[in-house]
Amino acid sequence: MMGNVYGLDLGTYEIKVYDKKKDKLWQEKNAIAMKNKRYIFALGDEAYRMNEKAPEDIEVIFPMKNGVIAHFDDMQYLLGSLLDRERRFSWGAEYVIAVPTDVTEVEKKAFFDLFFHSEAKARSVRIVERGLADAVGSGIDVLGEKGIFVANFGGGTTELSVLSSGGMVLNRLLKTGGEDFDNAIAGLVRHNQDFLIGRTTAERLRKEFGVFDESTGSAITVYGRDLVTGVPSQTEVSISLVRAAMKDPLEECVHAIQSMIDRTPPDVRRVILKRGICLTGGMANLKGLSTYIREITGLPVRTLEHPELSAVRGLRRIISDKSYYKRLTYSMLGEDYRWLR
Ligand SMILES: Nc1ncnc2c1ncn2[C@@H]1O[C@H](COP(=O)(O)OP(=O)(O)OP(=O)(O)O)[C@@H](O)[C@H]1O
Ligand SMILES: [Mg+2]
Repeated sequence: MMGNVYGLDLGTYEIKVYDKKKDKLWQEKNAIAMKNKRYIFALGDEAYRMNEKAPEDIEVIFPMKNGVIAHFDDMQYLLGSLLDRERRFSWGAEYVIAVPTDVTEVEKKAFFDLFFHSEAKARSVRIVERGLADAVGSGIDVLGEKGIFVANFGGGTTELSVLSSGGMVLNRLLKTGGEDFDNAIAGLVRHNQDFLIGRTTAERLRKEFGVFDESTGSAITVYGRDLVTGVPSQTEVSISLVRAAMKDPLEECVHAIQSMIDRTPPDVRRVILKRGICLTGGMANLKGLSTYIREITGLPVRTLEHPELSAVRGLRRIISDKSYYKRLTYSMLGEDYRWLR
């Protein structure tokens, strides 16, 4: 019997998987909850929910950091367990993995090795540049189109790709993602109000307030720890404080978009200026983000539904379409491997 084929987009925040046999997409948070630093207590979404809520002997760890694998063994264990949970006997499967382009060869190879050197005995492991998968998943004719700009706003990174005729022209991975926006919010609340909030609370504030519109004056009550008294308590955080905290990371991302467009070869740039930017990644859900980018860059901006699933939707298409598979995937073994195709 032929083994299954899996498409994987391994994100800092969430793992997205396409299972070919079931023709199904699923996602789980990229998190592990450890008890007493030794025992695995919970995995995926369940582990993420424990963050900041669990008793002190439970610690939630995140195997990836800013788009790359920070804890290889944990990542391998988490993936193996999640895949096993979905379907037992996944031995001999083929894995097609979307990876960031602008990382070191060692970081890139680690994605490959997760499956190649694992107990799962992979039948084959193929790599796709994530920017390409993202564009395919956004419904773009990646092989034919002469100028594509994809900006993937993720949980731990912002990845910018300029593509043309099925190839990567320019790529940059900024180590700034949703998590950094949340840290900035938590940092400013701490500084201005002597109040400690966690990452999930900051995330809630960011999602609620968004980045761009005229609304002022609203505030949200959050729970955390009062740093003056030292006791758990609640406080109000205003929209203006949240917006102020997000200003720097937001500007960094938008400037990077502008400077990449400036560096794009003229014939490719001409097409991009007409077609605009395609926004993907979970942060593309952020209220006002596409309007903000459109205002600043003056370019048309397009966001699809569930932009966080764009790359894994692309993997699904690449796995089922022979010409995409042949042109866009490669192995990292031996002479097959060419950097930046
Ligand atoms: N509705 C929403 N509004 C605002 N932000 C959102 C929304 N939904 C998801 N996000 C944010 O999107 C981010 C996750 O996006 P995504 O799943 O694309 O990241 P990832 O692929 O795991 O990370 P990366 O690609 O950077 O390694 C999180 O920071 C999350 O808070
Ligand atoms: Mg991602």
